[in-house]
Amino acid sequence: MRAKFTFDLTGRTALVTGASSGIGHRFATLLARSGARVIAAARRTERLDALCADIRKSGGEAIAIGMDVADEASTVAAYDAAERAFGVIDTVVANAGISPAGSALGLSVDDFDLTMSVNLRGAFLTAREGARRMVASDIGSTGSGRVVLIGSVTGQHAFQGIVPYGASKAAVAQMGRLLAKDWATKGINVNTIAPGYMETDMTSELWEIEKGRALLEGFPRQRLMQTDALDPLLLYLCSDASAPVTGSLFTVDDGQTL
Ligand SMILES: NC(=O)c1ccc[n+]([C@@H]2O[C@H](COP(=O)([O-])OP(=O)(O)OC[C@H]3O[C@@H](n4cnc5c(N)ncnc54)[C@H](OP(=O)(O)O)[C@@H]3O)[C@@H](O)[C@H]2O)c1
Repeated sequence: MRAKFTFDLTGRTALVTGASSGIGHRFATLLARSGARVIAAARRTERLDALCADIRKSGGEAIAIGMDVADEASTVAAYDAAERAFGVIDTVVANAGISPAGSALGLSVDDFDLTMSVNLRGAFLTAREGARRMVASDIGSTGSGRVVLIGSVTGQHAFQGIVPYGASKAAVAQMGRLLAKDWATKGINVNTIAPGYMETDMTSELWEIEKGRALLEGFPRQRLMQTDALDPLLLYLCSDASAPVTGSLFTVDDGQTL
């Protein structure tokens, strides 16, 4: 992977959830290449181990930690393990997510609850645990705490067949604003990125079926976004340069929602 934009994140310690695949995997690599120590978290630890081995081979610092973002005890344990290795985390990227597809008529309450547990409660637990530790350390007083939530354009726009997912992402975006206000005087900035559709494990099956092809044809540029599209914004929001930016929602969607 080649980073087209660079920010110097040397000295930062960053946790990325959902780092075992897709954009979380990319974010972990990108942050490490920019100088941050990286904690790569997800449930599939063998994938995280391979990612961290690659980062270390390229001269970066990274450790893999198993974490279920929907589970509070697992989240606290992951932060404990991360702190033992790298000290207090000052940069949190709450990226883990799932997306059950289909009409709401056919979705079970379990589909709904699981989506909310991972996408909304997971982002909350990840952000809150990170912020608690930043506040308890000197990070809170330096104003260098950074939390980036990963939302989705489906939180603001009505796409077909993703009711719990879109609702969870709308809630993530509003939670980002509310957390930003809550922590405005605690030295922690909270911002949300709402990406458009990209090709990752989450969406790969969609492009094989008529519904996905029709969706793609409806985009003004009739294309998916490349997964590197978020790189500069992610690095900016994790850097000291974004000190005056908090409580913002950034759409990066190649015009898909125009
Ligand atoms: N792809 C898109 O078009 C698109 C567009 C807008 C927003 N997004 C958002 O981008 C984020 C990343 O998605 P992606 O496209 O990269 O999909 P992906 O490749 O399917 O990655 C999802 C990641 O979430 C992790 N995850 C799922 N449940 C988890 C749990 N309970 N605990 C910890 N980690 C969990 C998975 O790891 P494990 O299974 O190993 O735990 C995986 O690493 C998501 O929040 C998604 O909603 C994606």
